[in-house]
Amino acid sequence: MKILVVGSGGREHALAWKLANDSMQPELYCAPGNAGTAELGLNVNLAVTDLGGLCDWCHVERPDLVVIGPEAPLCAGLTDRLEADGLRVFGPNRAAAELEGSKEFAKEVMAAAGVPTSAYESFTDADAACAYVRERGAPIVVKADGLAAGKGVRVAETVEQAEEAIRDALEANAFGSAGGRVVIEDFLVGEEASILALIDGEHIVLLASSQDHKRIFEKDEGPNTGGMGAYSPASIVNEVVREKVIREVYEPMLAELKKRGITYKGVLYAGLMIQDDQPAVVEFNCRFGDPETQAVLARWDGDMLPALEAVVDGTLSNDLIHWKSEPSACVVMVAGGYPGTYAKGLPIGNIALANEVQDTVVFHAGTALVDEEVVTAGGRVLGITSTGEDLEDALSKAYIAVETISYRDAFYRNDIGHRELRRMKDGS
Ligand code: GLY
Repeated sequence: MKILVVGSGGREHALAWKLANDSMQPELYCAPGNAGTAELGLNVNLAVTDLGGLCDWCHVERPDLVVIGPEAPLCAGLTDRLEADGLRVFGPNRAAAELEGSKEFAKEVMAAAGVPTSAYESFTDADAACAYVRERGAPIVVKADGLAAGKGVRVAETVEQAEEAIRDALEANAFGSAGGRVVIEDFLVGEEASILALIDGEHIVLLASSQDHKRIFEKDEGPNTGGMGAYSPASIVNEVVREKVIREVYEPMLAELKKRGITYKGVLYAGLMIQDDQPAVVEFNCRFGDPETQAVLARWDGDMLPALEAVVDGTLSNDLIHWKSEPSACVVMVAGGYPGTYAKGLPIGNIALANEVQDTVVFHAGTALVDEEVVTAGGRVLGITSTGEDLEDALSKAYIAVETISYRDAFYRNDIGHRELRRMKDGS
């Protein structure tokens, strides 16, 4: 069996790693992949935005399954084009991926479906948007409508900050066409967590919960990043919350999409804000989260491929998915300077040694192979992921591995899992 994984981040290395360990022993390809995926199969030198190149490659090579990782090709319609060529694809089509591609569309569908989320308005005119913000007050959230590589969300503490974010997007074109419209949402109070669900068009199966750490610095300070670490499960997502997430979020969303003639197949990521066991949706993503996937897949017991195939075939059921009871933690190592400017091409030492730490996998993200040497090639460089008897044990293994790895100006947070550890200490 031949599988192509599209993408080059830690999420795609984790997906490829899980598939490589499948009892079907598939032949793996990754486009474009990274130094980690190169150890599991063949990297194909095609960018995720090169839809023509990817379609041509698939037309000739005829993979049995294409698993699409990032949002950009999904929102650009890669699934639709590959399916039109008779290929089997894991990942939503363009219309369904619009839940991530347009924040306004997502909010409008949520409103129609009655899904708990914050009040919002959308604007293309900066003066009208600023007037709305002045009326609503701060804190308030300003989002670029389209895809902005994780940089399009500003949580404004003051009305002035919100007005600046609005003018950056609508007048200074900070996000190009993605920021031609802004969605302004009320600020939600609570604790954030991520839920990923597999959906085959009809059936919904929630995966294990997780929690990301978006800020660059400890104590959740500093600018937002793509994610500095994650752990699974996140106990804030208790059984009451999980049940509500199914009944109040996923089921009504699926029904509302269906009414509009849209079938959702793939993974749907709900970013949640939870307060007093009540979840509200912060955002939807049409893909696996990064670095949540690394933490979640480390806990997936047995084969993943049958579940992905069941999504494609419309035969998804809970009994295809089992979880290890051991928690997991993923610590992301980034390049010095990230999320601002940073160097690339720095040699990385001791990855093999770090992989020898018990119950630990070093997932590559921004890495490349240059003259057979692994070097840094992006802001988020590695996601060191461990399982353990409890979260403390998982974190302790992950940090031993992190400290083994060396490259110039390596940076990581030392407090991944801090909310969960505090909860465990407090016994709450
Ligand atoms: N971890 C956040 C995301 O994947 O969007």
